[in-house]
Amino acid sequence: MRIPDAATGRASAKAADSPITMHIGPYRLQNNLFVAPMAGVTDRPFRKLCKRLGAGYAVSEMVTSRPDLQDSLKTSRRADHSGEPGPIAVQIAGTDAQMMADAARYNIDRGAQIIDINMGCPAKKVCNKWAGSALMQDEQLAIGIVEAVVAACALHGVPVTLKMRTGWCADVRNAPAIAQAAEQAGVQMLTVHGRTREQGYSGQAEHDTVALIKSRVAIPVVANGDIDSPQRAAAVLRQTGADAVMIGRAAQGRPWIFREVAHHLATGRLLPAPSLAEVRQWLIDHLHDHYDLYGEHTGVRSARKHLGWYVHGLGLPPSEVARFRARINVLTRCEEQLSAVADSFDAWSASLPALSEGRETSDWKLAA
Ligand SMILES: Cc1cc2nc3c(=O)[nH]c(=O)nc-3n(C[C@H](O)[C@H](O)[C@H](O)COP(=O)(O)O)c2cc1C
Repeated sequence: MRIPDAATGRASAKAADSPITMHIGPYRLQNNLFVAPMAGVTDRPFRKLCKRLGAGYAVSEMVTSRPDLQDSLKTSRRADHSGEPGPIAVQIAGTDAQMMADAARYNIDRGAQIIDINMGCPAKKVCNKWAGSALMQDEQLAIGIVEAVVAACALHGVPVTLKMRTGWCADVRNAPAIAQAAEQAGVQMLTVHGRTREQGYSGQAEHDTVALIKSRVAIPVVANGDIDSPQRAAAVLRQTGADAVMIGRAAQGRPWIFREVAHHLATGRLLPAPSLAEVRQWLIDHLHDHYDLYGEHTGVRSARKHLGWYVHGLGLPPSEVARFRARINVLTRCEEQLSAVADSFDAWSASLPALSEGRETSDWKLAA
């Protein structure tokens, strides 16, 4: 994989001589384009589709370390990886070192091949319990958790990775210190979202901290935050020297962004946007897989957000998007939802020929 030069857009010859191969422990990844864990979004069906469309790696949505919740339907669905191409990576969240070690073992018993520790989630639900990015406030506790999880996983030969933010707040950007301590404790890859906990999702992600961390550790570093186009992915890789990029929100309703980024990194050029017929087929495949996991009642309802995201990016007139959403939101049966999607795409293909062929730009967000 080559990193296109900012000025010329061409892949550099030097980089072309050394294609990037990524490893996490013993696992060789297809490429260095990762799907970000997103609770309620990156479930098994979505991860599988992203991998089919070019992502080299995906981490599960976070799974609680609380044993009393491990048998809940939500947690057991999150721990079900059947049919997912490996390596299977499960993210765990919690505040207690022993409980986190137990959670790692529990997920390894259910097929996890890599365990990721969540130190990046800003959600109140997580932070009020002193988990997620709140752990970054207490480095001793954070590293205690890392050591306990690494020790539990080492017995099974399972690598441990860590995902974090740049720090707790603008004055305390302690990610570089935590990164070095985590590396010493045995963590095998670090992902850094270029915002502090205090920022939530506001402002712009900065990647200078990622570059600093990359210069201080020997393990692979993954840059994350606001990567929403092939050009941005190339720029962040260039700026940070990171080993990989991780994409979250820009993949919602656009899982083919990974093949677009891969194409750009390999050739320096942009792929045309996919045709309506391609998107129709991916979406229908996604829905079938989604219903298989959630069943009809939950599946039809939880698929609506994905449908909204897909359709938002198609460049349709806003009135058409609104009409589609209104239609979808009252349907409760799988067959009805599938038919509504198929009929709508067929109607758009017939009435909006410019969209049906795929457009010049691959940046659907700009067109929407
Ligand atoms: C809906 C949603 C759910 C998320 N859930 C998780 C999670 O479970 N674990 C985690 O580490 N990060 C979670 N994140 C953070 C993302 O993994 C990622 O770090 C963040 O969205 C920034 O990347 P992006 O700009 O590419 O979206 C979540 C983000 C969103 C938008």
